Amino acid sequence: MTFKPVRKAVFPVAGLGTRFLPATKSIPKEMLTVVDKPLIQYAVEEALAAGIEQIIFVTGRGKAALEDHFDISYELEATMRARGKSLAAIDGIRMTPGSPVYVRQQEPLGLGHAVWCARAIVGDEPFAVLLPDELMVGTPGFLAQMVAAYAQVGGNLIGALEVPASETDKYGIITPGRVDGALTEVLEVIEKPKQGTARSNLMTPGRYILQPEVMGILDRGEKGAGGEIQLTDAMAQLIGRQPFHGYTFTGQRFDCGDKAGFIQANLALALQRADIGPSVRSFAAALLA
Ligand code: UTP
Repeated sequence: MTFKPVRKAVFPVAGLGTRFLPATKSIPKEMLTVVDKPLIQYAVEEALAAGIEQIIFVTGRGKAALEDHFDISYELEATMRARGKSLAAIDGIRMTPGSPVYVRQQEPLGLGHAVWCARAIVGDEPFAVLLPDELMVGTPGFLAQMVAAYAQVGGNLIGALEVPASETDKYGIITPGRVDGALTEVLEVIEKPKQGTARSNLMTPGRYILQPEVMGILDRGEKGAGGEIQLTDAMAQLIGRQPFHGYTFTGQRFDCGDKAGFIQANLALALQRADIGPSVRSFAAALLA
C-alpha cells in the first residue's frame, strides 16, 4: 500500500522559553546555539534530509532573528567575499524561494494551538511536526527514520523514547500495545500523567507525523494539562480511527529546552568535532580530575 507522502513540516517556535531567561528575553530559544549552529537549523536540516519540501514556522513576536537566519545576508556575504573568506558555513542555510512559510501564533496558548495555526498551509495532507528544542543526533536522522517507517504503516507516527520512571510526569506518555522492532502500537497517549500513574516510561519526544484530521480536532480549542491546548490530547483522539504507532529512534536525544540538556548537547557535540574536540576533551578531563 502506498501512503500520501509527507512533504510539509511544521516547526512550532512561538513559545516564550521562560526556562532560559534571561537569555531568551530578546533572543528566541530556538536561536540558542549548540557549538556554532542554532537549534532551529539542526531541526530544519533534519527535516530536509527526510525529504521535506515545505518548511512552516509558527512564530510569534520577537522571533525576527529566526526569519533573518534563513534569509540571504547581503552585507555579510559581500564582505566575506571581498575578504576572500569561505561562505561554506552559511551556504547550507539557503532555502528555496517561498520556503519557509511563516504563520503567527498571536498568543502562546499551547503546542496544539501552535500547530493548528498552520492549518491553512498544511491543508489536506499528512505533515511532520518538529520541536527544535529537542535535538536529535543520528544517521539517518530521526525524521528520516520515521518517514521510512511511515512508508510501511502510514497513519500517525510519533517518537517513543524511554525515560526514567521519575520523569514521566514531564512528558506525553504512551500506553504501548504490540511491539514490532522499532514500532510500537499506541493504545493511548496521556500528557504529563501524575507521578505513579504512567502506563509506561515511553515518552513522546518532539517528532510527529500526523494526519490532517488532527486539525479538525484542534479546531475545538479544548484545553488540557496546564490550561494549554495540547497536541497530545488532540492526536490521542485519532487512536482507534487511524493507524497510530510510536517509533523508537536509534540515536541520541538532547532536551535543549532544559538547561542541563542544553549543556550536555554542547559538550557531546563539541567532543565529536575534529576542530575543537581535542581541546574541549583535555579541558573537561582536567576540570573533572
Ligand atoms: P515548551 O513547552 O518548551 O515551552 O514548548 P516554551 O515556551 O518554548 O519554553 P519554557 O517552558 O517557557 O521554557 C515546546 C515547543 O512548542 C512551542 C515552543 O516554541 C517549543 O518549540 N510552543 C509552545 C509554541 O510554539 N507555542 C506555544 O503556545 C507553546
